[in-house]
Amino acid sequence: MKRDRIFLTKRFDRFNNPSSVDEYENLDGYKALKKAISMTREEILDEVDTALLRGRGGAGFPAGIKMRSMLEEESDIKYIVCNADEGEPGTFKDGALLQKDPLSVIEGMTISAYCCDAKYGYIYIRGEYGKIRAEFVEAVENARKKGYLGENILGVEGFDFDIKVVSGAGAYVCGENSALLNSIEAKPGRPKVKMYHLAEKGLYDRPTLVNNVETFACLPIIVEEGGQRFLELGTKGGGGTKLISLSGHIKNPGVYEINLGTPMDEILNSEEFGGGSSTEHPIKFIHIGGQSGPLAFDEQLKAEYSYDGLKEVGLSVGSGAIVVLDETVNVVEYLEHVFLFFEEESCGKCNPCRIGTTRIREILSDMVRGKGRKDDIETLEYLIDNVSSLAMCGLGQSEDKAIMSALKYRENEFKELALN
Ligand SMILES: Cc1cc2nc3c(=O)[nH]c(=O)nc-3n(C[C@H](O)[C@H](O)[C@H](O)COP(=O)(O)O)c2cc1C
Ligand code: SF4
Repeated sequence: MKRDRIFLTKRFDRFNNPSSVDEYENLDGYKALKKAISMTREEILDEVDTALLRGRGGAGFPAGIKMRSMLEEESDIKYIVCNADEGEPGTFKDGALLQKDPLSVIEGMTISAYCCDAKYGYIYIRGEYGKIRAEFVEAVENARKKGYLGENILGVEGFDFDIKVVSGAGAYVCGENSALLNSIEAKPGRPKVKMYHLAEKGLYDRPTLVNNVETFACLPIIVEEGGQRFLELGTKGGGGTKLISLSGHIKNPGVYEINLGTPMDEILNSEEFGGGSSTEHPIKFIHIGGQSGPLAFDEQLKAEYSYDGLKEVGLSVGSGAIVVLDETVNVVEYLEHVFLFFEEESCGKCNPCRIGTTRIREILSDMVRGKGRKDDIETLEYLIDNVSSLAMCGLGQSEDKAIMSALKYRENEFKELALN
């Protein structure tokens, strides 16, 4: 077992009031920001690069590269945006961080602001997280009262930064970067055709850094512990510990902090984490990284949970979701639910996703209801190829992952239903 220390969850359940700055300081909060202001921006960026912090929202893009691009942009107005939309089914780790240690996210955003010379911050909190949002607003107000937000933070001339809290109305696609920024601007929450990097033109056409909740919460750890130490907590493909959300047919569902590099088998079956199947049936497959991630079977379940380890077996970390399904679950029936979700959440802006997703779902529904046709598999492959290659945003582009992995490892279950 490689779990030498806990970091992201170290203050979980240790507060009387997680929004209290006094309590946060007593638990070593704001030590990292105080250290950060004694460092140059370049020094902080070097630590983030060494740490090999990969974005925790889904794509896994190196955070240091994005921060550096922001710093290089010259603009009197720059934005730091925290993506707390967390609409991905089976993902609930950002909610845990916001609820149990909100000031660590605020501290991480403030370090980013210092590093990228940005004065304005937004956090976009999932509309359904009403209570969490109210508590987060309280944490922001408390940080402001104590001088950790506002003007001349910690007495540093010109270090001004503040955070506005906004919420969506529950659309999954609003978690996508450009749709999220549209939504903050009170425009329809649909993705934009991307002609620029957000570091050049993001919110209100100004340089913008968008990162996930957990990505921001990692920054105080990197500043405090150093980039090398953070890297060593993970693997060469990505440093740090990682929050995972375990759900489905698993004995101990919940949010866990693991070292990147922990074997999947340990995550699923050890008593410290998942504890094995929650039913009398063994685990058949998992859905990893979110609805837009692949299904994983057999040998893949023995891989190491890390950016590089999962990639080797055709999987990815994604949002950190691990949904566990037992032997009683038919993969085609499961996929019907996945595509009902995509169909519901497709914003309709581009035809391949709007029409293609519905056609795929209809075929899956027909198969499940005994109306399968001989050429169903071929049609599914044709449609999925079109949708994933022609769709405009990540929602449609990654619809292929779950279905193609299921076809690769359990084609027999499709064949049985296609021949009905
Ligand atoms: C349909 C869709 C939904 C997404 N939902 C979320 C989300 O809820 N939270 C999140 O952090 N990233 C989400 N993302 C990823 C973001 O677009 C973006 O990559 C991420 O916020 C960048 O932060 P990171 O580099 O820290 O991961 C979503 C992407 C897509 C395509
Ligand atoms: S791929 Fe789907 S969700 Fe994305 S813009 Fe097109 S229709 Fe909207």
